[in-house]
This record gives sequence, C-alpha cells and structure tokens, in this order.
Amino acid sequence: MRHFIDTQDFTKAELLDLIELVRLTKAADKQGALPRLLEGASLGMIFEEPSTRTRISFEVAMTRLGGHALYLRPGEIHLGVRESIKDTAKVISRMTNAIEARMLKHSMVLELAKYATVPVINGLTDYNHPTQVVCDVFTMTEHKLPGKPLEDIKVTFVGDTTNVCSSLMLICTQLGMHFTQAAPKQYQASVELQAMARKNCAASGGTLTITDDPVAAVSDADFIYTDLWWWVGQEAEIPDRKAAFMPKFQVNLALFSKAPAHAKMMHCLPASRGVEATDEVLDHPRSIIYDQSENRLHTEKAILIEFVYPHIRRPQQ
Ligand code: CP
Repeated sequence: MRHFIDTQDFTKAELLDLIELVRLTKAADKQGALPRLLEGASLGMIFEEPSTRTRISFEVAMTRLGGHALYLRPGEIHLGVRESIKDTAKVISRMTNAIEARMLKHSMVLELAKYATVPVINGLTDYNHPTQVVCDVFTMTEHKLPGKPLEDIKVTFVGDTTNVCSSLMLICTQLGMHFTQAAPKQYQASVELQAMARKNCAASGGTLTITDDPVAAVSDADFIYTDLWWWVGQEAEIPDRKAAFMPKFQVNLALFSKAPAHAKMMHCLPASRGVEATDEVLDHPRSIIYDQSENRLHTEKAILIEFVYPHIRRPQQ
C-alpha cells in the first residue's frame, strides 16, 4: 500500500504512468465506458480548509467509479479538539477504503499517513499540492505544441512560492522539463527547495531558473502559471506582498504579450482576479484554466484507481 503525499516519493516512470492513467480515465469517461472499479468503496475526505475543486473532483470521482465519499469538516468530527490525529487515522481506516486530507500543516498529513492503514491522498498542505500538479502536467500534455516532447517544455511560474509553485517546480524538474520561477527575491523558492529541484534536474536533464525578471522568464515559455500572492493566515502581509509583486509580477496583457504566440495561461484557481492575473489573460483564448479545473476530476479518478482500487477489502464470496 502506498500513500500519495508528495511527487518526490515517486519515480519519473511512475509519474508518467499516472499521467497516462489520467488520459485513459478521461477518455473512458468521455465515452461512458469508465468501469465502476470502486463499487461499494468509501473515501473519507478531511478538509481543514475550504475547497471547491479538490472536494468536488474527489467526490464526483468516487461516484463515477461506483463508490461514495464523506466530507468531513473540523467541527463535524472530533479531529484536533477531542481526538488525536492517530486515533482519527485508525478509526477512519477501519470504516473506509482511503482518506483524502487537506491539512493546514504538512506534518499533520504525514502523521495521518503514519497511522492510517488505508491509502492517504494529500489534498493540499502548507507545503505542497501533488494532485494539482499531476493534473497540471497532464493538462500541459493536452495543450503543448503537437510533437513537442515533454522534456522540451518550458514552464514559467510568475509569483510567490506557494504550495502549488513548490509542487510544480518539483514535478517539472522530476520529469526533465524546464522550470522558471519569476518572483521578487524575498519570495523566491527557498535554498532547500531549489536544492531538491536541482537534484531532480541532475537526474532528469531538466533545468531550474530563478529570476526576478518576469519579462525574460516568459519570453520562451510554453506555459505561464501563476497563483495567489497570499493565502489564509497571511492577511497581515498583504500590504508588503502587494508592494513587492505589483505591478511588475502581475500576469497582465502587457506581460503575456512578451511570451511566444503559442504560450498558454494557467492558474490552479481560486484566482484573485485583477491581483496576480487580470481578466484579459485569465479569460484569454489561450487560457486553459478551466481545462485544468476539469482535469482535476480525471486526475482524482486515476489516483483513486492507482492507489485505492488494488487495496479494497471485499467480503469473502
Ligand atoms: N486548486 C484547488 O485546489 O482548488 P480548491 O482550493 O478549490 O480545491
């Protein structure tokens, strides 16, 4: 049994197989031919933070696969108040076939996985967002220039080192792609994260560039990606963050026009429209933000098939 907590826990070949499974499950679903592999199975979904895409995609994926999902919010279960992570993990494991968890702290999802006896899927922490970036790379395979190998693709992330940025930097460098982050110096990837990504590059042939020049960063990009400039808990930093990022690091039409004519615009959503990106680029004909959102559903189906399906306990015939 394996958990899905961090793409770094998987090899390049395993990640490529998973992305291929996303393609297959999407095609099967579009043809109405998706097998109900999780018939009778249940997924416990713990959400310490709100979610639109992750919640809906996992819940609908379970339904499409013949299973059932339970949405578990703090205040509705005892986690963190009257019950430890250990007991919560052990109890949910006895009654469901898998746990999906969006936790405030990465250490909490690791602790959940330590005690769970069913697969745990990371639905976002303060450190990373692995399901999102598997979806993102799959979406890139759908929208890249025809015939262009994955190893030739350049992804430019403009903005803060969010959990999505960190995960995207790692998966792209694992897969031999070329990843650039353009951000003010104080918001660039940490030394530790850069070291991990450079180690990935050494193994995969990918490259990592960190710069505070967004125009140069987008000039040869196939995909331009951005994310929120602040998250829950960072409200006190909003004035400093706005001053550092605006206007130089906003993805607006002026910056987007510096990219190649085939470059696509990406955002994991939710977006603060008019802040990290403007309506003109988010709604641009070359924006693929809603394809990304839809592909979360196909990604979750593939993840559930890969990590949960082989381990479903069925009553003896
Ligand atoms: N991108 C993403 O994870 O969206 P939600 O926060 O709505 O789940």
